[in-house]
Amino acid sequence: MSFIQFQRNEEAARVIASYYETPPLLFVHSYGCQQNVNDGEKIKGVLTDIGFGLAARPEDADLIVFNTCAVREHAEQRVFGNVGALKGLKEANPKLLIAVSGCMAQQKDVVEKFRRHYPFVDIVFGVNGIDTFPALLCEKLAAKKRVLRMPSKREEIVEDMPLRRDSAFRAWLPIMYGCDNFCSYCIVPYVRGRERSRKSVNILREFHELVDAGYRDITLLGQNVNSYGKGLAEDIDFARLLRTLDAVPGDYRIRFMTSHPKDATPALIDAIAESEHISRHLHLPVQSGSNRILKEMNRHYTAEEYLALIDYAKRRMPEMTYSSDIIVGFPGETEEDFCATEALIRRVEYMQLFTFIYSKRTGTRAAEMPDPTPHKEKTQRIARVLALQEQVVAKLGGAMVGKTVRALVEGAGREEGTRTARLDNNMTVDFTGDIPEGRFADVRVTGVRGAQLLGRLA
Ligand code: SAH
Ligand code: SF4
Ligand code: F3S
Repeated sequence: MSFIQFQRNEEAARVIASYYETPPLLFVHSYGCQQNVNDGEKIKGVLTDIGFGLAARPEDADLIVFNTCAVREHAEQRVFGNVGALKGLKEANPKLLIAVSGCMAQQKDVVEKFRRHYPFVDIVFGVNGIDTFPALLCEKLAAKKRVLRMPSKREEIVEDMPLRRDSAFRAWLPIMYGCDNFCSYCIVPYVRGRERSRKSVNILREFHELVDAGYRDITLLGQNVNSYGKGLAEDIDFARLLRTLDAVPGDYRIRFMTSHPKDATPALIDAIAESEHISRHLHLPVQSGSNRILKEMNRHYTAEEYLALIDYAKRRMPEMTYSSDIIVGFPGETEEDFCATEALIRRVEYMQLFTFIYSKRTGTRAAEMPDPTPHKEKTQRIARVLALQEQVVAKLGGAMVGKTVRALVEGAGREEGTRTARLDNNMTVDFTGDIPEGRFADVRVTGVRGAQLLGRLA
């Protein structure tokens, strides 16, 4: 594993200053997961570092970047649609530059499609090219021709990239990159590359900076945070990293995602239970409740093992809440398999579920599996999950009424005059009262509407 230090591109700063009369404006839109959102913050950081300002709307920008996601077909379609819609802006302003980055740009056929069918896209680079973006931009400006990079397998970790965070109180902190799990349906290992962890000193330094800058809600990121530390020279694992970070004094909360159930251990649960700052919430994606399907998915755990860990966590922390991702309609999923998923959902009682219909990704193992279930049946199954989840959430929400909770204010609530705040267990409450965002408030829960808690300042 190798680590490199980010270097500001001085030449690019000079080129930008001489090419534009006034500082040019940048608009970045990130799709997909929090890793990608954090990458978007780095794209903004690297370009503001060489003289760009930020535009609030694409219409005002001199450079538009779409930082893309490839996880499901629907995500890709949306990007092609949104990029296509920029054609008009480009016609109105021929000096406008359009760039596409992120996970879609890690696929050769996608880069080829941009080359052939989207002539107004000027720059394409993948997830490992953010630090090289200023150089690509100079190349484009100097040569006046398109710079479409084919996906690179670069695997260094670039430390100290500048970044412009979207929020002043909530921050994403990547602790590792890539994924080695190759779940049979998933494109992520192909586009994000091999799993590699940051050194704990670098994580700790960034963590201190965040706490000192007043960040209240810090989420550690990785595709499988439980395998943090593998391949590092130091002797560390995720539970120990959590304990080290939790020891940093301050008024803040730590969250993390994603935990892969195959590597989640009682030691992780103990680290949460014994911590001062770690959220009492676990996002532990189960994907399916059927052991046969879990095997086909290459997930390396059974429903029973998964439930045993949840039971242990429930015993240690009765106040803990859970969330999960569910894939409905994986190739060959029968009614019986699906019923096993419903049974598991009933048993765990998730506070939040992210449910997806299986989407075929070319190049993955599942793409080769026979998939006889009609799409209509899959949409009926997903509707059944959503209906079940509504019942579960109503029950969990009802149990909160009457309690007084500490919650971090995130902004305006849905109704006029209300604010919305996030509880330690990741539920949200809309309350009456006037506390600025980024502050903790004590809220008395007075009711619940759907999944939304309602309350007033205690
Ligand atoms: N590393 C994380 C998840 C990353 S992708 C984990 O292992 O949990 C986020 C979610 O997208 C996955 O949990 C899965 O539920 C869903 N997903 C991934 N590939 C998919 C596909 N081909 N079709 C449908 N859903 C998919
Ligand atoms: Fe995809 Fe599985 Fe890796 Fe998650 S753990 S990113 S689902 S391959
Ligand atoms: Fe999407 Fe890439 Fe994240 S495929 S979910 S943006 S890792």
